[in-house]
Parts: sequence; C-alpha cells; structure tokens
Amino acid sequence: KKELLWQSRFSEPFDRDALRFSSSVHVDKALFREDIEGSTAHVTMLAEEGIISVEESGQIIRGLREIGAELEAGDLVPHWEDEDIHTVIENRLKEKIGAAAGKIHSGRSRNDQVATDTRLYLRRQIRTLGTALQGLQKTLVSKAETYRETIIFGYTHLQRAQPISAGHYYLAYFNMFRRDRDRLTDLLKRVNISPLGAAAFAGSTLPLNPARSAELLDFDGVFSNSIDAVSDRDTVIEFISVCSMVMMHLSRFAEDLILWSSYEFGYLEISDAFATGSSLMPQKKNADIAELVRGKTGRVYGSLITMLTIMKGLPLSYNRDMQEDKPPLFDTAETTIESVSIFGKLLEHTALKEERLAKLTADDLSLATEIAEYLVKKQLPFRDAHRVTGRIVSHCLMSGTTLPGITLDVYKTFSELFESDIYAALKPEASIKAKKTHGSCSFDSVAIQLEEAKKLL
Ligand code: ARG
Repeated sequence: KKELLWQSRFSEPFDRDALRFSSSVHVDKALFREDIEGSTAHVTMLAEEGIISVEESGQIIRGLREIGAELEAGDLVPHWEDEDIHTVIENRLKEKIGAAAGKIHSGRSRNDQVATDTRLYLRRQIRTLGTALQGLQKTLVSKAETYRETIIFGYTHLQRAQPISAGHYYLAYFNMFRRDRDRLTDLLKRVNISPLGAAAFAGSTLPLNPARSAELLDFDGVFSNSIDAVSDRDTVIEFISVCSMVMMHLSRFAEDLILWSSYEFGYLEISDAFATGSSLMPQKKNADIAELVRGKTGRVYGSLITMLTIMKGLPLSYNRDMQEDKPPLFDTAETTIESVSIFGKLLEHTALKEERLAKLTADDLSLATEIAEYLVKKQLPFRDAHRVTGRIVSHCLMSGTTLPGITLDVYKTFSELFESDIYAALKPEASIKAKKTHGSCSFDSVAIQLEEAKKLL
C-alpha cells in the first residue's frame, strides 16, 4: 500500500473509511493539468535558484510531462486511496524517477499548490466564459439587426405597456451580458495572482523566488501575504457570484422565450431542433432547453451559498473545509459556460411571428401613451392629458372599440385639442419612430445602439 504524504509521525495507519471520506481525488482530478503546470514552474524556479540541481529538475519535468500524457490518455487512472490529485501525481513521479521525485515539494505545501491550481483553473474558465458570452452577444446583435423594424409589445408588470422595436429588446440583453463580461475582466485582475511560495502559510526558509514562478505561470503578480495566499477563497466566491448574475440574466431571458412560445402569447416559434414533445400528449411542443437554463440557475445560486457558508467563520489560515470548494466551483463553471453556449444556439433557433405581432400591435390599447403625449404637445399639462386618456381607454373597454376606431367627434368630446392628425399618431410604427430620446426604442436609436454594440465585439 502506498504511503500518504504526511504519515511518518503516526504509528497507526489512517483508517480506510476516514481516508475514503477525506479523499478528493474523484473531484480534484479535473485539476491535473493545472497541477502539472504549477509543479513544472515551481521546479524550474527551484533549479534556477540552486535549491535543486538542473538534472533533478529536468528529470522531474520530464516525468511530469509523461504523467500529464498518461492522465490525458486515461492510462493513469487516479485512485481514491491517493487522497488528492497532488498525491496521485507525486506518487506516480516517485514510481518513475525514484528519490528525486521527493524534491518537487521543496518550499511548497499542498496549501499553496491547491490555491495555485484553483487560480489557474479560474483563469481558464473566466476566459472560456468570456468567449461564450461574446458569442451570445453576437447572436443578439444579429437578432437585433433582423428584427430592428419588427414591432413587439414592451411590458411592465407583464402587462402590455408600449410598442417597441424587437431589436431594442434583444439589445437590452446585450447590455446585461456586456456588464457580465466587464465583471469577469475585473475579476481576472484579482484571480491572476500567484500564491506559490507561500508554502504551508508562513513562507519558507529556502531562498524561493515567488516572482519567478509567477512569471513562468503567466500570473500578473505575487501574493503579498502568505497567510492570505493560502487561506482565502474570495476569488472562487466572486467567480460564482458573477456566474450567478449571468444565470439570472439567462433565466429571465429563458422565461420570456417560454412565455412567448406559448399558445397564449404566440409571439415566437422555437424550431423543432430545439423543442421537445410529450410522451403522452401528442400535440405538445415544449421549451425544455430554456426551462433547464432557468432551473440550472438555482444550482448556481446554491453553489454561491455553499461557498459563502463553507468560508464563514473559518479560523486562519488553511482548513480542510476549503477542499469542499471544488464541487461547487467546477459545477458552476461547467453549468454556466454550457448554459450560455446552448442559449445562444437556442436563440438562433427562434423566430418572431411577425405577421401575428403586426396584427396584435396594430390597434392595441398600448398606444394610449401616444394619446397622452399628443395632448402634451398641444400644451395640456401631462396630469390632465393622462386623465383624459384614461377616460378614453375606459370608453374603449366599455364600448369594445379600439383607439384608432374612435371617431374624431367622439375624441373631441374628451378634449377640444384633438384634430384629425391624432390618427397618424395612433400607429405603433409612428409611435416608435416618434421616440426622440437617447437609448430609446425607436428604429433609429436601435441602429445607433447596434453600431455601438458591434464596436464592442
Ligand atoms: N486537497 C486539499 C484541498 O483541496 C489540499 C491538501 C491540503 N491538505 C492539508 N491537509 N493541508 O484543499
């Protein structure tokens, strides 16, 4: 049986059940690439500083490279008895090169090792997620272009509010994902700091060069405090927090797609390639992909609470509790990246039902704001304009007429200010085109927003 890395001071072997309970191999084996990368940089630095010989470092690095290939190919299968991926790799190295393998851990603890692996992992996932978000933004820009002059209802309180350009709707999401990407870029500054050289938590008496190992790993800087370097996981929490925000945005978007594709709304068609049916009800066409994204959001939020709760009240510095960071971190990264990617594809497989939307928006009461603003332009105070329009809406509801269906004579009974030009204002297209303000829902504004959006991609 293989010896654990820390066993020499004990006279009894570690209990099998306790070892099985504490082993993290089944999870942290996903970090093998990062672990090998980190060890290679550490050993290179050790040789450069004369702490180990150049031959030894050459032997170790060759061994690590082979182990990486073995793990990649599945020829080396990590076993739970090895406790964690760091031990798996070190034990295999000992099998390969013998005693020199023991020098790999000079001036290093698994505490700064795992903190390094985690940061390398975070850095990679941040970049992958950023790219996935950029892809989604591209799809949104193309949707906004396609539907710039398509009119949909804008909602507040899920009640029809005003007609808007559909492009405006898509670009609202573009902006949310833009901020999510900014958050990732900002987070990367804090993630890209090397903890190597902090050793267990107090530093080392060996003449380590943490700046050099940081440089070899492409980190932008080195830890300032060795306790902090090994004992903090706030970058993990921040990453999951950013992912929670991304998922929250996706989940709202998902909700709109689900509603809009329902028979009751009927605004949007999801193509068959991205819809599911029922095993019992033959007519069903469901938006399962959007629902799953909405559901997975709950898992990501759960991970955020998991991490905050794991870290709460931990005494400085390293505690084994922190090993529990990996399941929520890995799950969050995978879930969020997958969700963003599939959501972009789903979106590509949706089409607005333009004819139906045109019919629905043509004479809807959501044009009421136009009437109020028409009266304001004729110098009626807005409060009075609102009251007059409210009465007109009430008249429509009671008599079953539409706003464009009311005759001018009837309009005049509500206010003398109405002239025949009111009918020109009572067209959704005219309403949208008449929007003058910065960042509004008008077709022109959407064109400007589109130009800006494209510059950001
Ligand atoms: N596997 C541990 C983790 O993921 C690292 C090992 C540190 N263990 C220790 N007993 N100091 O956090």
